[in-house]
Amino acid sequence: MSTQRTDLLGRHIVLGLTGGIACYKSAELVRLLVKAGASVQVVMTEGAQAFITPVTMQALSGHPVVTSQWDAREPNNMAHINLSREADAMVIAPASADFMALLAQGRADEVLSLMCLARPRERCPLLVAPAMNREMWSHPATQRNVDQLIQDGAVILGPDNGEQACGEVGDGRMLEPADLLDDLIAFFQPKVLQGQRVLITAGPTFEAIDPVRGITNHSSGKMGFAMARAAAEAGAEVTLVAGPVHLDTPRGVVRRINVQSAQQMHDAVLPAATESDIFIATAAVADWRPATLAQHKIKKEGKKVAPSFELTENPDILAAVAALPQPPYCVGFAAESENLLEHARAKLRRKRIPLIVGNLGPATFGRDDNALLLVDSTDQWQLPPDGSTADKLVLARQLMAELARRLNLPESD
Ligand code: C5P
Repeated sequence: MSTQRTDLLGRHIVLGLTGGIACYKSAELVRLLVKAGASVQVVMTEGAQAFITPVTMQALSGHPVVTSQWDAREPNNMAHINLSREADAMVIAPASADFMALLAQGRADEVLSLMCLARPRERCPLLVAPAMNREMWSHPATQRNVDQLIQDGAVILGPDNGEQACGEVGDGRMLEPADLLDDLIAFFQPKVLQGQRVLITAGPTFEAIDPVRGITNHSSGKMGFAMARAAAEAGAEVTLVAGPVHLDTPRGVVRRINVQSAQQMHDAVLPAATESDIFIATAAVADWRPATLAQHKIKKEGKKVAPSFELTENPDILAAVAALPQPPYCVGFAAESENLLEHARAKLRRKRIPLIVGNLGPATFGRDDNALLLVDSTDQWQLPPDGSTADKLVLARQLMAELARRLNLPESD
């Protein structure tokens, strides 16, 4: 099941388009921003209008597009002041090389650069998504301008690497609209874990029986990936160790290590744990694995009785991390089918960790929503508090805020 999140509800975004073929992607970006709850005011330079019409952008944003600083619709004729005063952020996507040069110089000879210059910088951040040919991007003049923009407080989103409209391949593509949306959503999240190193396990493990079969479980990895995204959004440096799942790495996650078995997960986690401040064990690790791995497929032909095989216990990754001489702050997960509180408490003690998050596995496997029961040595409480369910990312963000409180971390911008 999928829930519709409105991560940008109540946010007002001024979206500026400048001349570049990536303008066609900005139509999709507006749609995504509006779907995420934002109100969007589009501003287009003359160059942008050569690639896409204001009619398209008006239809998608639901507001007339600003194309000139002499727009008589504004009662005081000061669109550049009025619109930037209402905005929570200005996003320039695509930002051409020429427009970045204008910004770096503080020029104001057309409406969009004028608006960037006139915006109240302390409460209306400027985010810039470059889009240009790779030679233009790597040119020292452009790089100088980028450095200048960063020094002046702008946030640069991307660019991406890949095939370009001209047929060349390299850096300079505008980020995909979905990536820009995620980056913007992340930008607005409080940086409660700024500078923290967070290690997260996610998904199931797969314990091979023979080259074609194995033992696994129903974990989709969605909860763990939501944790990774929420931690990255909160400013943490995230390492994600993932079992076999079909999920894209959340933006901002600096390192993803893919593993299959519990033993591989253990071997990836232990060295990383010694360099982490927080360890969140979301993975549904198989408790046992076949004692021996058949070298070839176990065949059915001619066998009257089903084959049997011995199981051996897997290492307990969470307990091993918690037993390190200087362990990170450990958070465990308990996926149960009944008696959640009782089982969670027992695990908290058995694994010697400060916090465990209980959830009912069958009710949440594969879904986008969940209900959590947080249990520490003295207390227990639900997320959401009323016992309903909420989107996994929303819950993960609340958990990050809880961790920041427990670790007494200062909030930084
Ligand atoms: O013992 P159980 O699997 O129910 O405990 C769940 C918690 O322990 C989860 O946080 C899970 O990621 C972690 N775990 C682990 N290594 C195992 C088994 C579980 O890290 N072998």
